[in-house]
Amino acid sequence: MKRNILEAVAVAVAFTSVAVNAATPAEWRSRSIYQVLTDRFGRADNSTTATCNTADRVYCGGSYQGIINHLDYIQDMGFTAIWISPITYNLPQDTPYGYAFHGYWQQNLYALNSNFGTGAELKALATALHNRGMYLMVDVVVNHNGWDGSESSVVYSDFYPFNEESYYHPYCEITNYDNQTNVEDCWLGDSNVELVDLKTEDSTVASMYQTWITQLVSNYSIDGLRIDTVKHVDKAFWPGFNSASGVFCTGEVYDGDPTYTCDYQNYLDSVLNYPIYYPLTAAFQSTSGSISGLVNELNTMKSGCKDTTLLGSFSENHDVPRFASYTSDYSLAKNIIAYTILSDGIPIIYAGQEQHYSGGNDPYNREATWLSGYSTSATLYTHVASLNQIRNQAIYKNSTYLTYQNWVIYSDSSTIAMRKGYDDKQIITVLSNLGASGSSYTLSLSNTGWSSGTSVVEVLSCTSATVDSSGNLPVPMASGLPRVYYPLAQLTSSGICGN
Ligand SMILES: *[C@@H]1O[C@H](CO)[C@@H](O)[C@H](O)[C@H]1NC(C)=O
Ligand SMILES: *[C@@H]1O[C@H](CO)[C@@H](O)[C@H](O)[C@H]1NC(C)=O
Ligand SMILES: *[C@@H]1O[C@H](CO)[C@@H](O)[C@H](O)[C@H]1NC(C)=O
Ligand SMILES: *[C@@H]1O[C@H](CO)[C@@H](O)[C@H](O)[C@H]1NC(C)=O
Repeated sequence: MKRNILEAVAVAVAFTSVAVNAATPAEWRSRSIYQVLTDRFGRADNSTTATCNTADRVYCGGSYQGIINHLDYIQDMGFTAIWISPITYNLPQDTPYGYAFHGYWQQNLYALNSNFGTGAELKALATALHNRGMYLMVDVVVNHNGWDGSESSVVYSDFYPFNEESYYHPYCEITNYDNQTNVEDCWLGDSNVELVDLKTEDSTVASMYQTWITQLVSNYSIDGLRIDTVKHVDKAFWPGFNSASGVFCTGEVYDGDPTYTCDYQNYLDSVLNYPIYYPLTAAFQSTSGSISGLVNELNTMKSGCKDTTLLGSFSENHDVPRFASYTSDYSLAKNIIAYTILSDGIPIIYAGQEQHYSGGNDPYNREATWLSGYSTSATLYTHVASLNQIRNQAIYKNSTYLTYQNWVIYSDSSTIAMRKGYDDKQIITVLSNLGASGSSYTLSLSNTGWSSGTSVVEVLSCTSATVDSSGNLPVPMASGLPRVYYPLAQLTSSGICGN
């Protein structure tokens, strides 16, 4: 069976015939992902007022049909893929930590979480996305099954297909994150909700997982996977699972150490870029953040990871505090979003980031997107749209943009300027952490790669500039705003800044 995927990259519309469910790492590299918690993004009734108190940790009524109803909102921001919550059947009880509305407490891998809709509705979501040329990424959990209660109360026959104790590691609590055996073999969770740990190094367990993921991807026309708690599973498990899935996999290795985290890219196509997340947030969360810390980590990643251009680039998700919980400054928010979208890797924006949501740690960072009214005139909504649009344009003009490793061409204590892309078709991104009350000054940037006289456009303000006779680009900085330059000649017929 074959289907056509519409490759919608900016104004370019090219039909490519590809095998079903076989979106490769190379295809995902060009994507930009909007992450939704299925329960929290959209409701089938299109309500923008339905109550959702994050502290309650209950199902708020978001669903697959609700996502389908609001795909324009996502696509009009320039996204070419979405990532949804785990789809499998979860523990149904109200635990001391609330309900499994996030989907990470699965019990039956062959049944769906009916709170999010039916299998037919999930398939309809995949079809609706594919009709728009967009991809579906599904979150999956391999490390554990969820249990409402303590380790001594687990009824293994309640799980499926791992319905016997022999499929699991014997109980021990993770106590030492410096001991990898402890991290892999012991259990996450606690006596309120245990995360019963699968014996993934067992060949029977590994083979049952491979059978499952092959079917899951095929049954629901999934284009890619985000994999939960990857560092809690033995590394040898991953290549077989990634291969059986037949699609691009990016893993959550929740660790800021580049050496530790990047090693997982030798076992999976990609990991989420947690090593950059920490210095990135530190650099922009206040006007005294360290830019040099970010520059150093970026260079470490470039030389130490297998392929930084395949990493998941993010600055918010459902496990970390919203950026706006650190600072309400819109200029700082614009800068961190610009970095997220225009640095190496596949950009991921977490639903609500475009509405400047400010929830702190879990569960407060899991606000319902509908309560924003899906405003498409919100400051950060249009900002995200502009950034996705210029990235899509650069990819359309020459896809080598994607594999060019982002290069820091200038930095000082409050500024970082980066080049990404070859020849005349690069994007130059200049970021500042001075914040909205930052002073005005003009940088004279060398190493842009553009020759004297080149006309360029600052695409966030639609301002023209020309590379001077010394080959430097004058960059007027003000109010701590980011600047993003691209050649005027490459904007023809793009619709960007009136071209
Ligand atoms: C919800 O919005 C979608 C998309 O605009 C529309 O097709 C559908 O009829 C709406 N449904 C309800 C119940 O209002
Ligand atoms: C590491 O953890 C494993 C599993 O908990 C344990 O058996 C082992 O003794 C630990 N090793 C060290 C050096 O502490
Ligand atoms: C996939 O669909 C087949 C046919 O309906 C079904 O037998 C199988 O259990 C499904 N597998 C998964 C993982 O959903
Ligand atoms: C894209 O850029 C690469 C690297 O500079 C170049 O070799 C190639 O010819 C370009 N392709 C097109 C279609 O311009």
